[in-house]
Amino acid sequence: MNVAIIGYGKMGKEIEKVLVERGHKVVLTIDVDNSYLLDCKENMKGVDVAIEFTSPATAYDNIKRCLMCGVPTLSGSTGWIEQKNEIDTLCGNLNGAFFYSSNYSLGVNVLFRLNRWLAKVMAQLPQYEVKIEETHHVHKLDAPSGTAWTLATEMESASDGKLHVERGDIISYREGEVPGIHTVTYESEEDTLSISHSAKSRRGLALGAVLAAEWLVGRKGVFGMDDFLAI
Ligand SMILES: NC(=O)c1ccc[n+]([C@@H]2O[C@H](COP(=O)([O-])OP(=O)(O)OC[C@H]3O[C@@H](n4cnc5c(N)ncnc54)[C@H](O)[C@@H]3O)[C@@H](O)[C@H]2O)c1
Repeated sequence: MNVAIIGYGKMGKEIEKVLVERGHKVVLTIDVDNSYLLDCKENMKGVDVAIEFTSPATAYDNIKRCLMCGVPTLSGSTGWIEQKNEIDTLCGNLNGAFFYSSNYSLGVNVLFRLNRWLAKVMAQLPQYEVKIEETHHVHKLDAPSGTAWTLATEMESASDGKLHVERGDIISYREGEVPGIHTVTYESEEDTLSISHSAKSRRGLALGAVLAAEWLVGRKGVFGMDDFLAI
């Protein structure tokens, strides 16, 4: 694939490594200094997929511009989820292709599945109180993390609203260079039950994003990891 990387930061660089290893070509690299290139369709000619990892403040605009250029777009930027419906609608109107996940780790996506299943069970056991905790490196701009936000939202829908965690009550720790730990804990007077995922590095996130981008090329519509993993 010919790939445009939008956001050449920690994730953009890790994704580039995985792309090269898998025989793909990075034909365009965009960061703050040259982001104006996204305004011109001509610059995106020959790009099979754009992979966007920038920031909460810039993701919406970048994704919009990539889709307007007619390029299938995958984003992993977090902290802009309130505007996702608008992007989904735009993608539909343009008959484009958009893929989004707040976390591209394969293990975290299994955690999402466990979380939904567990929420259904625990909704019937009111003696348990639920809490969500996440730990990330000190450079992370948004809190709570997009992944913690997804855990809370999916827990609520899987339990038909019986379980609820206020987004402001999600516990966020920022420590050193921690790649990402997410834990959902149910606690009663008698015991504690937790499900947890701890990333060892950013590589798992980059690999998941590249595999999802390979899957996206040739498809039309709005997709997420459940579509890709078919779980
Ligand atoms: N979905 C996932 O699996 C996942 C994994 C890790 C990080 N993230 C998210 O991805 C985003 C990036 O993370 P990171 O660790 O690479 O951050 P980073 O700060 O290391 O890199 C972000 C890069 O984007 C650039 N940028 C900022 N505004 C831009 C613009 N308008 N156009 C082009 N480039 C611009 C910055 O200059 C920087 O180089 C964050 O929102 C983070 O939370 C998601």
